[in-house]
Amino acid sequence: MLGSQKTQTNIVVLVSGGGTNLQALIDAQNRGELANGKITCVIASRPDAYALERAAKNGIPTRILNRKEYADTVTYSRAVLEALQEENADLIVYAGFMTILDEMVSRAYPYRIMNVHPALIPSFCGKGFYGLKVHEAVLQSGVKLTGATVHFANEIVDGGAIILQKAVPVENGDTPEILQKRVMEQAEWKILPEAVRLFCEGRISIRDGRAYIDLQDDAVSSERTVEP
Ligand code: GAR
Repeated sequence: MLGSQKTQTNIVVLVSGGGTNLQALIDAQNRGELANGKITCVIASRPDAYALERAAKNGIPTRILNRKEYADTVTYSRAVLEALQEENADLIVYAGFMTILDEMVSRAYPYRIMNVHPALIPSFCGKGFYGLKVHEAVLQSGVKLTGATVHFANEIVDGGAIILQKAVPVENGDTPEILQKRVMEQAEWKILPEAVRLFCEGRISIRDGRAYIDLQDDAVSSERTVEP
């Protein structure tokens, strides 16, 4: 079981921008809420990502793998994979990571890469749906509920097993920016640390390609438990 075999789960967080989801993870760690999880490295796809400063302020080592310095997705993905291996990553979190990677990365870490997406998958997701674009599409469609999803990454963009979701209301007069803030505050910053904690506690199981949360006092064994 996860957490019983290793004293520490090394968490590597990949970022591209402001890093508010990284901050939610740092805050959860500082409150002692990540079980044996420890954010051991933050990797940024851009040198100007403010997330790098958040990491530095908290004494977390950082690496910059500037997407612009790599010719294509495959060479960039190789560099990311090498960095993850060097960092001995047990759990990888895409927290506002805006670069699509080759499937070599998700294949190397099955059910060990989590992504936070700012909508209720399978709506408003996939290629082209990222950041504010997601909220623009939500407002354009007229849906009354949106939210956030934390899922495992696989070879399909936003297509891996869903771990946690939380709904958030769309309100009259919302702009993409206002809606983005509400989704972050009410959903993303809560379910991302929660999913990481559940992983570190060995409480996420995979059956038939779907993720299930094990109840704490439910000792019934499952076909597959994600282990670091
Ligand atoms: C977050 O809303 C995150 O869900 C989204 O970008 C924002 C990053 O904010 N990610 C995607 O759209 C990925 N498809 P942050 O840098 O402040 O965490």
